Amino acid sequence: MSFKNVDSAQIENLLSNLTLEEKISLLAGKNFWETVDFPEKGVPSVKTSDGPNGARGATFKGGVTAACFPASCLLASTWDLEAAKNIGNALADETRSKGARVILAPTVCPHRHPLGGRNFESFSEDPFLAGKLAAQYIHGLQENGVAATIKHYAVNEQETCRFTVDEHVAERALREIYLKPFEIAIKEAKPLAVMTAYNIVNGTHADSHEFLLKDVLRGQWGWDGLVMSDWGGTNSTADSLNAGLDLEMPGPTRWRKVDEVVAAVKAGAVSEKTIDNRARKVLEFLAKLNCFEDPSIPDERAIILPEHQRLIRSVGSQGIVLLKNDAGILPLKKEGLAKKKVALLGFAREALIHGGGSASVNAHYRVTPEEGLRAALGDTVEFSYAKGAHTFRQLPLMGEGVVNRDGQSGWTLDFFDAEEPNGEPVSSSSSELPTYMPLFVKESWGSLRATGRFTPTQSGNHYLAMSGLGRSKILVDGKVVYEQKENCPDSMAFLLGGVKEPENQYSFEAGTTYTIEIETMKPTGSGGLSLLEGIIGFRLGFMTEKDHNRDLLSEAVEVAKGCDLAIVFTGHTPDWETEGQDQVSFHLPSNGSQDRLVAAVGAVNANTVVVNCTGVAVAMPWLDKVKAVVQAWFPGQEAGNAIADVLTGAANPAGRLPMSFPRKLEDAPAHGNFPGEFVEKDGNRQLHVNYEEGVFVGYRHYDRSEENRSKILFPFGYGLSYTTFTHVNHQARVTGDNSIEVTVDVTNAGTCAGAEVVQVYAGTKLAVPENPVKELVGFAKVHLEPGETKTTSITFNARQLAHFSEQSGTWELQSGDYEVTIGQSVRDITGTVTVGLGAQSYDP
Ligand code: BGC
Repeated sequence: MSFKNVDSAQIENLLSNLTLEEKISLLAGKNFWETVDFPEKGVPSVKTSDGPNGARGATFKGGVTAACFPASCLLASTWDLEAAKNIGNALADETRSKGARVILAPTVCPHRHPLGGRNFESFSEDPFLAGKLAAQYIHGLQENGVAATIKHYAVNEQETCRFTVDEHVAERALREIYLKPFEIAIKEAKPLAVMTAYNIVNGTHADSHEFLLKDVLRGQWGWDGLVMSDWGGTNSTADSLNAGLDLEMPGPTRWRKVDEVVAAVKAGAVSEKTIDNRARKVLEFLAKLNCFEDPSIPDERAIILPEHQRLIRSVGSQGIVLLKNDAGILPLKKEGLAKKKVALLGFAREALIHGGGSASVNAHYRVTPEEGLRAALGDTVEFSYAKGAHTFRQLPLMGEGVVNRDGQSGWTLDFFDAEEPNGEPVSSSSSELPTYMPLFVKESWGSLRATGRFTPTQSGNHYLAMSGLGRSKILVDGKVVYEQKENCPDSMAFLLGGVKEPENQYSFEAGTTYTIEIETMKPTGSGGLSLLEGIIGFRLGFMTEKDHNRDLLSEAVEVAKGCDLAIVFTGHTPDWETEGQDQVSFHLPSNGSQDRLVAAVGAVNANTVVVNCTGVAVAMPWLDKVKAVVQAWFPGQEAGNAIADVLTGAANPAGRLPMSFPRKLEDAPAHGNFPGEFVEKDGNRQLHVNYEEGVFVGYRHYDRSEENRSKILFPFGYGLSYTTFTHVNHQARVTGDNSIEVTVDVTNAGTCAGAEVVQVYAGTKLAVPENPVKELVGFAKVHLEPGETKTTSITFNARQLAHFSEQSGTWELQSGDYEVTIGQSVRDITGTVTVGLGAQSYDP
């Protein structure tokens, strides 16, 4: 399926038939996911869907189920361009099954810091690896008729204060690191759309940024697609139109109300020509997607395709990284384990398949590690299970034992016009659980009271915890037991389910009925609320004292003691690793509970294996207490099967880290400049971040000195296999067209089939302190049978070694000798060849 060629005459004809007001209306969404249409003028609407590891459809929570693909951090760990293309291709089928023709993906911003809340959605700390994989992913999508929306352009490397944070980055680092994945993917794969970032870049919001949109994207890179804002990320009327933001999303508009834009045109702040240019891009986008011929937006459907299931499982296992494997404890062989006892601990019964926020999907299904292992190892293994650690961030919603005003299970919600919930409600409804959040429909109500009658079955101190978007209270039998006196301090965290709520204890008697009320008011002011402005929202969590204080650790230790092997599944649930906020800690949540679990299990069971599901590096203070560690990321709906395939050797691990794992957080290059500092600006506090590490992001920093190198736990590009590979006969030669061709003979020296990732790095031989020692310039994934040798050839362009000069405004390649380094990671070098290159300079 390919996109239609744009018929310029048709577009000009349509444009000329639209009034100024109609053209302005086209420049913002109609609703949350669709663009504005004018059926009587022949202008259809198109539907978008998130992105990037599934096509979620129009519902934020629940809704029609969707295939959940591996997160991009896992995809990046495959270093496999074909895998990226195949995922894009399958995702296009899924996007169409949700009635959409546009997917809001891929996310490509480089991982700047291990606490980055959205790192999991994005590929790598290395812009080249990210750009190359993203390009294939986009090819896969667009070849199959779905538009990619590469995001978030640009410099969106953190989530703290994401609507207002001002990211200060020098032009060299901007060009070489932060714009680079966009540049590579945009030039190679021509995504039909670009989504701007929420943040401010060097003082200007990304949606209104002339340098980023006009000079670089459309000017220097010559890209001609549609620019849309992130959801609620349009920040101006005239400036964003003038800078080149075609489409404000979502709708209805906040910044492009027809009369206001008409007034801006009359005042000369925006020209009619600019309006035409923006509207033309919207029409061209519709034309490319064939919307004029077929304007239908089919209903959402859940379609489970066996080929998608196979793809998700195989890419999932290929991207899992084996970090440690002492004494060859892995793979676990069925024969060796017959009649043995295996303890499954931690998240064995929860499949951590994706991170939180817009990348989460209501998956068709989710295979847990326990299910995957039981299927793989069969009945002869005796499994036992213990959770071992409390990992909740918020108390679970209060449901059991609660009835509403009509005596039905659940809560009564009464809405009031007034600021406080007094007098007669204007509307009432009921809800199964004590939570409310009308994201898509803006309500005009001022306050809300939720009432439930609760009869506990246990006596004792129970835990209640609530958060409201605005001021809120909990009342028990008419008495206020907790009050939140201000707006929620982090509205985004509230939306995405990750505010740590103060836990209050309240004593209940079993069998007595209590009236519990939650009163919540509309938030005051609009600072940082963006999409949530004018909305009432709350949640109430509850736990019995017994559940809350249960000693899970001792239970797990007892289970582990009696077993031959213990597998501890650690990780981040979507509440802990999510869009909208950065991670609270480098240590696994919560409060060290998972670290204590691994250490205690490792102390009583000499055969302990850890399988970690996070999208980022985490501290591993227990590393020397366990035999094996597997980094499984977020593998999508087949998680348990993909993990079991790796643990049992059905798939030989071939994943390599797409980011460095530092020993300590303080060793991260952005440490001290993440998530920034608050400064006073126009009477407001604003978060300000300096990208002081410049181009020395990730391995570029650790590579600089022996001291830096010692701070790395697992280097970029690292990963073990159940076989071993050797590299001989390293060669590199400059060919006539400015290219360098590298060849190396790779042999599988072990006894099972496997895949090696040959990595090529290069850097000038002169020690130039302002340049990285070496940078990734090429890679290849090579599949080899035992004993097999293949000559692998990787070609790169000398241009990849040029650096951006802020003085001249050009890319400059210094003449001299360059070391071409071939390796199995940035640290495990198998050979180095020197090539001489002449000076060159290029326009950006
Ligand atoms: C996210 C985008 C997403 C959009 C629509 C925003 O909050 O930043 O990545 O595509 O919501 O859900």
